[in-house]
Amino acid sequence: MKNFKKIIAALLAGAMLMAFTACGTANTASETESMNESVAESAASAEDGASAADAADIKFATAGKLTMATNASFPPYEYYENEKIVGIDAEVAELIAQKLGVELEIKDMEFGSIIGAVQTGAVDMGMAGMTVTEDRLKTVDFSDSYATAVQVVIVKEDSEIATVEDLEGKKVGVQENTTGDIYASKDLGEDAVKRYNKGNDAVAALVSGVVDAVIIDNEPAKSFVAANEGLKILDTSYADEQYAVATSKDNTALTEAINKALGELKADGTLDEIVNKYIPAE
Ligand code: ARG
Repeated sequence: MKNFKKIIAALLAGAMLMAFTACGTANTASETESMNESVAESAASAEDGASAADAADIKFATAGKLTMATNASFPPYEYYENEKIVGIDAEVAELIAQKLGVELEIKDMEFGSIIGAVQTGAVDMGMAGMTVTEDRLKTVDFSDSYATAVQVVIVKEDSEIATVEDLEGKKVGVQENTTGDIYASKDLGEDAVKRYNKGNDAVAALVSGVVDAVIIDNEPAKSFVAANEGLKILDTSYADEQYAVATSKDNTALTEAINKALGELKADGTLDEIVNKYIPAE
């Protein structure tokens, strides 16, 4: 299935173009490795001390608050635990807010609404395991990357689908408006793709046999597979991606302050600590 290969090649080229911290991979050990590299990089540039003073130039959607849009159905980045939104993004955002001297407010919305909310200034930032893509860069800015990810394929344990190529002619479930949706639609055709509001709904459709596979980010994939009997993740992975915080093109002061905060969190090991708490080494 040459079409698929072409798109993968194009995506990889795109990923390289963007090359923030390089070497994105599905496995936790190398994720930590690449994270450490960026720690070393930013250690040189990060300054000591609080950055609360920077907050002076920033326009906030609501004064005194850092308002973040997310879609809290994406473990381990954002999900509900006892009616509270927790996860890597929630914790990192909390620390960014602290460094800016404001309070964090999280607004849970559909994934497809986040970019618009950022663009119109209804919220200050979008943080949702969101992949930097050239298309999204046309409407919003992105901070430095804080994580790498990869799109993977989930199938039933006894599935005849063994590689990405075997997806041809199959029904594939995705979360609407995610990169999984974009790649699958482009490559397999609109008719092959069934879009769900949440990744977990796509996985439920796989369990009940409505779709043959789900294309989604690797870490949520691991959570969903762990929570459901009889599923597995294919070894063949798909496209490497970078997660970053989406901000308005009109709020450069905020983007810079977020980059400074992220640089500090990388340099002092806090980011690694948060990641390791949610993604224990295998
Ligand atoms: N990384 C993918 C994207 O940016 C999926 C993100 C979905 N995030 C979520 N919180 N539901 O399109």
